Amino acid sequence: MELTDKSIFQNGIKRVIISEEELQEKIAECGKYLSTEYEGKPLLLVSILKGAFMFLSDLNKNMTIPCEMGFMACKSYFDSTDSSGDVKIVYDLAQDISRYHVVIVEDIIDTGRTLSKVVDILKQRDPLSLKIVTLLDKPDRRVVGIKADYSLFTIPDYFVIGYGLDYGEYYRNLPYIAEYNVEG
Ligand code: IMP
Ligand code: MG
Repeated sequence: MELTDKSIFQNGIKRVIISEEELQEKIAECGKYLSTEYEGKPLLLVSILKGAFMFLSDLNKNMTIPCEMGFMACKSYFDSTDSSGDVKIVYDLAQDISRYHVVIVEDIIDTGRTLSKVVDILKQRDPLSLKIVTLLDKPDRRVVGIKADYSLFTIPDYFVIGYGLDYGEYYRNLPYIAEYNVEG
């Protein structure tokens, strides 16, 4: 893919690692899988803001069963590429999840700290079941033992942007995933 728009594509973007077509193909498969798996069950998709907003939207468009959505926001990265190790819930779900099968929809599992904290909190609320779907998985960076039930792409230890993922809050709008050079 050619990187032409200089106003958006600044020096830091190295190369596209997952194209829009590749993303959409895998997301369609995942939507189909969830539609079969949760047919006839009360389903709540829980998205962790902000990174997963685009994935959740496209995933839901590819689902053919009724489901509800809920949002949570955690703070773990502070405009940098390093995890602070400190994870805080800054916005919580409105639903009583004990009535639902819950699927957490994540953008990326990096160290695993954010997700393991969210999983601990949600388990205490006694959902009918709890599964994890992640768009991207960086297993090389894991410091907490946590695994997704459904991972769409496994990537090496690159810092990536696009399709909801940011660097300093920018680049979330890109329709693909690119490797970002944090050195600039
Ligand atoms: P973790 O707690 O280290 O697993 O990662 C928490 C959050 O860090 C993710 O949900 C992302 O928002 C962010 N993050 C981790 N790796 C990347 C990356 O390569 N690019 C952009 N954001 C990332
Ligand atoms: Mg982020």
